[in-house]
Amino acid sequence: MKQRTKLTHSPEETQTLAAELVTTLAPGAVLALHGELGAGKTCFVQGLAQGLKVQQPVSSPTYTLVNEYRGHLALFHIDLYRLQTADQALDLGLDEYLEGDGITVIEWPERAASVLPENTLHIYLEHGEQADERRIRMPIIT
Ligand SMILES: Nc1ncnc2c1ncn2[C@@H]1O[C@H](COP(=O)(O)OP(=O)(O)OP(=O)(O)O)[C@@H](O)[C@H]1O
Ligand SMILES: [Mg+2]
Repeated sequence: MKQRTKLTHSPEETQTLAAELVTTLAPGAVLALHGELGAGKTCFVQGLAQGLKVQQPVSSPTYTLVNEYRGHLALFHIDLYRLQTADQALDLGLDEYLEGDGITVIEWPERAASVLPENTLHIYLEHGEQADERRIRMPIIT
């Protein structure tokens, strides 16, 4: 799949990028957000929510593992930071989200790489040179 890389210079710009991407996704799409602490993964999910016209505020599900939102489509926001093994993800019912008709987006997907469907869309976020700069690599959906 073709990729494109975009530099953003503010959280808002990252959110706008995500909001644009989500309008190109089919129901059932699974997104894996790669990037270190503070790279902007949760910020990106906030943009996905904006694009789906979710009304509730989106915050990190670090303590709950999964947050579920309703917009034009359901949005399942999963954060696997605290997960130890992929088996644990299955115990938590991760595969049910992955099979659903919503948009499922996963922070720290490396924690359960073996569970992710083959057609998972992988997105990579990195810090840039400047404090508010982020480099975001994502597939081009056609
Ligand atoms: N261009 C940018 N894009 C995204 N976030 C930015 C940008 N510039 C600055 N930020 C700031 O970087 C931080 C990103 O935090 P965020 O919670 O989204 O990271 P995260 O990747 O989810 O980290 P964690 O692994 O801890 O969950 C926020 O405080 C945000 O305001
Ligand atoms: Mg986060």
